[in-house]
Amino acid sequence: MKLLAFAGSTSSTSINRELVKFVLKSFTEHDVQLLDLNDYEMPLFSTDKEKAGFPKEAHLFLDAIAKSDAIICSMAEHNRNLTAAFKNTFDWCSRITPKVFQSKKMLLLSTSPGGFGGGNAMNIAKNTFPAFGAEIIETFSLPKFHENFDLQNGITNPDLLKQLNEKIDSFKLHLK
Ligand SMILES: Cc1cc2nc3c(=O)[nH]c(=O)nc-3n(C[C@H](O)[C@H](O)[C@H](O)COP(=O)(O)O)c2cc1C
Repeated sequence: MKLLAFAGSTSSTSINRELVKFVLKSFTEHDVQLLDLNDYEMPLFSTDKEKAGFPKEAHLFLDAIAKSDAIICSMAEHNRNLTAAFKNTFDWCSRITPKVFQSKKMLLLSTSPGGFGGGNAMNIAKNTFPAFGAEIIETFSLPKFHENFDLQNGITNPDLLKQLNEKIDSFKLHLK
């Protein structure tokens, strides 16, 4: 199985990327591509710019999804929304095909330093991604990242780790 993984953030110290990397440790039997949104930077979308054509990065992002069997992604939250960086990528891609996620199964994650764990971004993603071709299998939000996650060891809170592992197990069942 080919897994595509990414964080919905362009921060070089992204905590969502750390969460994705931790989750990927449970998928070592799979062929994993961890993509960096920075490698797909595009101009800020506008219908005027679109008239000049699509950035090659939008095609490359869609190609990466096309080549995968399933997606593991973690959404960062800015002002109770998805980040502008991810939304811009998404907007460009959606103009090439509305089925951005191309019927791929998805393990959808989020985290933030706050107690809601990026829950607003999670809810937006949960409510919108299926309309754009995502088959969301499981979701998990990690609250208070800096209290519950250690960069060496990953999730330190046993209850949250148990919850995540159950979701990972369930997601894996759908990969067969
Ligand atoms: C402009 C801005 C707005 C933010 N708004 C929120 C917010 O609404 N909710 C939240 O939980 N965290 C918010 N944060 C904190 C982010 O969750 C935090 O910066 C986190 O590290 C972002 O994820 P990342 O490290 O994966 O980029 C905000 C941060 C920035 C820079």
